[in-house]
Amino acid sequence: MQALDNYLSSVARTDQIYQFSRSKSYQISPERYRHFKQQAHDVRRTTMGARSIGAKLLELDVPRSGLAVEIGCGTGRLSGSLVLNGHFESYLITDSSGELVKEAKRRIEELESGSEVRFGVMREQDVAGFPDASVGSFFMAAVLHHILDWKQALRTMKKKLQPGGIIFFTEPCLEFGLTLAPLLMTFKKTLEDRGVQLEQRVLKSLRAFAGALKQRGDPFNLEQKKFEDKHFFRLSDMYHFAQVEGMEAHLFPNSSFHALLSQGEHPRGRIKFEKVVRQKLGTAAQLPPAFVDQFMEAMQEPLGFLAHLAELGRGPVAHFSCILQRPRR
Ligand SMILES: C[S@@+](CC[C@H](N)C(=O)[O-])C[C@H]1O[C@@H](n2cnc3c(N)ncnc32)[C@H](O)[C@@H]1O
Repeated sequence: MQALDNYLSSVARTDQIYQFSRSKSYQISPERYRHFKQQAHDVRRTTMGARSIGAKLLELDVPRSGLAVEIGCGTGRLSGSLVLNGHFESYLITDSSGELVKEAKRRIEELESGSEVRFGVMREQDVAGFPDASVGSFFMAAVLHHILDWKQALRTMKKKLQPGGIIFFTEPCLEFGLTLAPLLMTFKKTLEDRGVQLEQRVLKSLRAFAGALKQRGDPFNLEQKKFEDKHFFRLSDMYHFAQVEGMEAHLFPNSSFHALLSQGEHPRGRIKFEKVVRQKLGTAAQLPPAFVDQFMEAMQEPLGFLAHLAELGRGPVAHFSCILQRPRR
């Protein structure tokens, strides 16, 4: 791919990292940032997923030639499986934060994958600079909701894809927040009716959680520009987008990238509902562990009901993974 090689050789590099744009720090609370750092320790375990992602890429006959580009790699949680899978001829692992790219680079290089792997500081807008039809595939884990004009970003990626190439991403879903919010409100009301004084920080987190659902669930809210996390999606958003753009959509409800890739205790691709509720209340809603324990105990029955439906593949969708494939002609 001469055009791609020429383009990449025109991009400045510092310490072997391509500088497509200026670094922008990841504006997230230190607590949640630590969560991503911890997840990065699992990079070696992602070798398990390397086989299953390979199977998916083969099934869809995704072209092997060309570059696999990861956008928003963070500390490299997904990058390990991509690189170890070795489906593509070469890899470009990027993030808008230079600090996170360095962290991911250190971890991925420890894996000694044998694949050709490059790293870059890059925002999603920089995809526009790549030659058309030059990229093998794009990958994003929990990144699309950070992008204000996500449709435009996906359209640009489509244009840069080789025929048959894919955009593979995983995202949190609005529906799950809409399920949890009424349960949290009911629980709060029950405690108040019993005369229990809720801590200020619990009330603040509950208000912030409800506020975030309103902001990120509203596709027309320009205020979203101010926030690091900008959207919660619905599965129908992706079906609709694919239809308009003439792409083939493969959707995997309740399959985070990791669940989809791992061959662990759950049937492939299924999340463990209660575990995800706990995790979301701790990280997304930022509620203190003692409050989360109380909530889980008090709401055992409705949560059990929802968990049962989720196991059947009928419950509320917490995350989804999506593959959009560019037609071969
Ligand atoms: C929720 S984290 C996910 C990190 C990683 N993919 C993972 O799953 O652990 C979002 C990442 O996207 C990056 N990011 C945010 N806005 C971006 C943009 N416009 N272009 C590229 N990366 C972006 C952040 O720096 C952060 O590393």
